Parts: sequence; C-alpha cells; structure tokens
Amino acid sequence: MQLRSFQPQRFTESALFRATANGDELLVKVYDGRLAELRRDLECRKLTHWADSGFSVPAVFDITVPGIDQPYLVMPFIESLTLSQFLKHRDRPLQDKQAMLSAVFKDNALRHNLALSTDDPLLIHTDPNTDNVLVTRGGTVHIDFEHPSKKKKSVSQAVAQEIAAFVRRASNDLEKTHLPTTIDSMFSAYGRNRGLFRHVVDLTIGRPLQFIHRHKDRTRKRSHPQIVTRYDIADAIKQHL
Ligand SMILES: Nc1ncnc2c1ncn2[C@@H]1O[C@H](COP(=O)(O)OP(=O)(O)O)[C@@H](O)[C@H]1O
Ligand SMILES: [Mg+2]
Repeated sequence: MQLRSFQPQRFTESALFRATANGDELLVKVYDGRLAELRRDLECRKLTHWADSGFSVPAVFDITVPGIDQPYLVMPFIESLTLSQFLKHRDRPLQDKQAMLSAVFKDNALRHNLALSTDDPLLIHTDPNTDNVLVTRGGTVHIDFEHPSKKKKSVSQAVAQEIAAFVRRASNDLEKTHLPTTIDSMFSAYGRNRGLFRHVVDLTIGRPLQFIHRHKDRTRKRSHPQIVTRYDIADAIKQHL
C-alpha cells in the first residue's frame, strides 16, 4: 500500500497519511510518543461507541498497513473542510455559518443529554474544538478522540467543560460581534437548560481568586481586542440565566 503524507493546514500531533485501497480513499493516523498505544485504543473505542450511539464519526477499518511500527488506525479519508475553516471562510454568507453552527450545537446537545441521562463519559469529547468537526456535503463528522480526560470528573462537569471550550473556539472563528447570536443559538439548541449553563458559567466565574483571573483576562484583551475569552463566554451566558 502506497502511503502519501497528508498535512492538514494546522499543526497536528500525529503523523497522517493518505492511501488508496480497493478504490477507497483512506486516512492512516499514526500515534507517536509514550502513550501512543493507549491513545490509539481510546480513539478506536470512542469511534466505535459514538457510531453505535448514532453519532457521525469516521468508520474504523480493519486493514493492516505494512511497514508502520507504531500504533495506527485506518479510517476513510473524508473530503471536507474543518468547521473552523467553514466558519472563517471570507466569502461564505454569515447566515450559512450560523445555520451550520446551530446544527452542530443541536447534535452536541443530543449527545450531551444522552451522556447525562446514561452517565456515559465515553460520549464526551475531550478535545472539543472546531478543527475536530469536519463539514461534508452530507453533514458534519466528529474526529479526534485520542485524548484521555485529564482529571477524574463527573459526567456533568465534563459536559460543561466541553460546552465551554467548544463555544469559545466557535466564537473565535466568527467575528466577536456575533457572540450574542452564537450564545442564543446554543441556548435554544440545549432547550434553555439553565442548570447546565449555570455549571458552564461557574467553571469560569466560580473559581477562587476571581480578581486575579479577571485582571489577566482584561490585560489579555487589551493586547488582543478581537479575542473571545472564557470570561466573554461566561458573561454572555450569564445574561440568559
Ligand atoms: N478521516 C479524515 N478525513 C479527512 N481529514 C481528516 C480526517 N481525520 C483528520 N483529518 C484532518 O487532519 C486534522 C488532524 O487530525 P486529528 O485526528 O484531529 O489529529 P490531531 O490529534 O493531530 O489534532 C483534522 O483537523 C482534519 O483536518
Ligand atoms: Mg485534532
């Protein structure tokens, strides 16, 4: 099998290759470092579990690739843009971007509700960002499940963390002026679940030593006025509570 190096636009921690086998376009993800095998196994487990639970992820192919001596996974290569590229695209109408984001929020809300009602940590994305959602002609696909959760936490805490991180990344892909609309759209996707969003807000404003964190946040925004920080997100959500 002929492997062609594949380099996405952004930095990637793993080595990625494209290959063609029996007419299928494949992506081979090779894991590096000490915990490579663990990360590959986790990614494989989550991909299978998300698919079984009805969420859109790449299939895992049982294909042996000769000549790779590190852990790897073989998946279909998905012709796509990342959600980040889609949201940042200069010529795309804002309406299309907001409709796409709203669909992703709804899909996330379904998954989070299922994770909460079944107490299922495997349904949490532990590296939630807009580079890990692929936009295809047929809909969106979630990728990149190799990261173990850093600390032991409850499912509700993990859901709140995923929501907070994802909405911050998405808001940074759009212009800052669109933040209120983004928060609105997320709120309706989750059926205005106040308890859940209180938890999201508390991750930021419930931490001890608030005055220090707030000060750092203001200083950061002075040098990067366009950035959407976790405080911008927390403050915007708070207005809905
Ligand atoms: N199955 C796939 N098909 C097409 N592109 C992919 C696929 N998987 C990953 N990519 C591209 O490679 C990038 C990095 O892959 P990812 O699994 O997120 O690895 P990393 O852990 O390095 O972030 C993604 O953001 C996406 O652009
Ligand atoms: Mg990634």
